[in-house]
Amino acid sequence: GAGAAAPGRRTGTDTSGRAAIGARTLRTDRWWVQPLLTVVALVAFIVYSAFRAFQDAHYFAEPYISPFYSPCITTACEGDTFPELFTGPAFISPAIYILVVPLGFRLTCYYYRKAYYRSFWLSPPACAVAEPHRRYTGETRLPLLGQNLHRYFFYLGLVFNVVLTYDAVLAFRDETGAWGHMGLGTLVLLANAALLWLYSLSCHSCRHIVGGRLNSFSRHPLRYRFWTLASRLNAHHMRYAWVSLFGVAFADFYVLLLATDTISDLRFF
Ligand code: FES
Repeated sequence: GAGAAAPGRRTGTDTSGRAAIGARTLRTDRWWVQPLLTVVALVAFIVYSAFRAFQDAHYFAEPYISPFYSPCITTACEGDTFPELFTGPAFISPAIYILVVPLGFRLTCYYYRKAYYRSFWLSPPACAVAEPHRRYTGETRLPLLGQNLHRYFFYLGLVFNVVLTYDAVLAFRDETGAWGHMGLGTLVLLANAALLWLYSLSCHSCRHIVGGRLNSFSRHPLRYRFWTLASRLNAHHMRYAWVSLFGVAFADFYVLLLATDTISDLRFF
């Protein structure tokens, strides 16, 4: 803070009782590199995924469907990997109806919260760097109160993981519907599904759901086993968050290249 707050209205690092340091930080390393990289990577993903979601084309290349468009639940869908549930207005892309689940899941994720609170809100931008905001209310009010919805998005995300795994299984059929096909696209969809499972199973809410609020682990051996596994994965949650984000964009991009005949699928069987 600038240290200029009037007496009695002191907030943040100007609170009385704290050392009167004028500088915003005494750190001499390049603490701003990480928040900057986070902004660049997240903005790139947001721009690309928004473009693809609104494009409403090139998301299906037999037998592959882009993860941005799955589950594809309207009658306007290219391909038929999922039951078509309703007919929507033609100007709404099928990706828009399902966007809320992955978007809500990632936006409320504990790791991404840290990432965007630091890099976009600068609240604070790094350890031991004072934030520019005068007041801090945490996640006690709207809209940030909504972060508590994370556990419900976690459950919905599991349903999506099942659907995307099903898409990867369907990718073992060829254009005629016969089983026994395997192309690079099959592996791309499989890897995407696997990474999304790792992201979900390493989730902080997942760890709490399987092992939280237990007074005695010895009386719940199975949950203890799951909790141990979730804890191990949880240590790498940040990595899974980034790799699965990259993975889902890559899987979409691969389908885009096939659907526009830019490349043809490498075929193993
Ligand atoms: Fe990141 Fe739940 S904490 S997905």
